[in-house]
Amino acid sequence: MSVMERVYIETFGCQMNVADTERAATGLRAEGYELTDSEQSADVVILNTCSIRARAEQKVFQRIGEIRHRRRTNQPLIGVMGCVAQLEGESIFDQAPSVKLVVGTRATDRLPSLIKRVRNGETRALDLGERKGSEAWEVSASERHSKHVAFVPIIEGCNKFCTYCIVPYSRGRERSRPPSEILEEVARLRAEGFREVHLVGQNVNSYRPRTESGLESFEGATPFSRLLRALASTGFPRIKFTTSFPRDFHKDIVKALEEHENLCDWVHLPVQSGSDRVLKSMRRGYKVSDYLARVDALKGARRRIALTSDIIVGFPSETESEFEETMRLVEACRFDGLYIFKYSERPGTPAAQLPDSVSEAEKTSRFLALEQLQMSIQREIYAGYVGREVSVLVEGESARSKRDLTGHTTCNKVINFEGGQELLGEIVRVRVNEAKAHSLYGELCV
Ligand code: 5AD
Ligand code: SF4
Repeated sequence: MSVMERVYIETFGCQMNVADTERAATGLRAEGYELTDSEQSADVVILNTCSIRARAEQKVFQRIGEIRHRRRTNQPLIGVMGCVAQLEGESIFDQAPSVKLVVGTRATDRLPSLIKRVRNGETRALDLGERKGSEAWEVSASERHSKHVAFVPIIEGCNKFCTYCIVPYSRGRERSRPPSEILEEVARLRAEGFREVHLVGQNVNSYRPRTESGLESFEGATPFSRLLRALASTGFPRIKFTTSFPRDFHKDIVKALEEHENLCDWVHLPVQSGSDRVLKSMRRGYKVSDYLARVDALKGARRRIALTSDIIVGFPSETESEFEETMRLVEACRFDGLYIFKYSERPGTPAAQLPDSVSEAEKTSRFLALEQLQMSIQREIYAGYVGREVSVLVEGESARSKRDLTGHTTCNKVINFEGGQELLGEIVRVRVNEAKAHSLYGELCV
């Protein structure tokens, strides 16, 4: 290549996609490509896509239209990677003829060679294949989304097949990374100056590697809690993990959190519904009482553990009284944060066979009622932090005010406070003096 080609990657969706983008960027750079933040000047534009709900999927085609419009005189090579690529495959070329590359969720490492194929004259290139055994998860520090927080995938894919969910189809079966590889990556991150790692996976606590070598000296009821103890014992400053699956949420995880201060006091445990009938129809594999038992274990921990969750409203045939059960569950759990979603039919999933019987207006009204309830609970929880000191990783300047810095507490709340640039990347103590709906405000402790 005489002149370096510039590649722009735009990422949609979850942390796994962010991690895939970082990995793809690392591979592209190694093959002599330049990565750019400017869509305008890029020779190659890659959209790393999400298909969790219909709207996320529609956004891709909208973005392709925009890019084509803006770059009328100087069309870039457009590629689609990620979940939409995996699910739609060839048909993307028909739906959006300007797309020349379709790169599935396990083909990230082969992106450079796919680009080359098109540059060498192929009209289109498509790869929906599996990851190769020889491909390790390599990400260089400069490609990470933050200088201070690193995402470390420990498990890819999902075997749960909840009836509404497209993920098992877009990301395939569960594959766990070997513990030794994860431990090496985390050791490298520490040497590179990262202060926090987020272990990421569709279901981190379903972690089940082929070999447990690397974990020999660590106790635990499951490979996941052994991994947590192994990582905690490296002394890495802050370790968080997401997402946890309720059925596999063993109480030994709570024990590990109690034992190690650097395993952060936050758990994301999506419940989806407060009705046993709906949970069964979703095929979640647990009842409300099982979920509440997990919550009790978390609430009974020696230090307070912040709990967040996801809920879907308007699942097919969800009745008003079943929705009321969800409201009661939310009252009982007192989540620190809640992501609420209106059910979105995903073609090919079992729930798509059920009539999408709850009207859009009803979904909206359930969404708003639940949001209002959650806000009243969240206000109380956030107000409870006023007057307390929290440990904060300083991640950047606040978007609101140049004088303020922003970061996250160990319990994963956003907090802003006045301070200078020299604190970036530091872990500091902050006294909370104001609570907002979704964030805290405080002052640096001296
Ligand atoms: N419709 C609405 N929400 C969904 N989620 C997953 N699939 C769907 C769907 N088809 C939500 C779940 C999950 C979160 C990541 O997205 O709540 O936990
Ligand atoms: Fe989807 Fe269920 Fe797997 Fe989560 S556990 S990714 S909701 S199928």
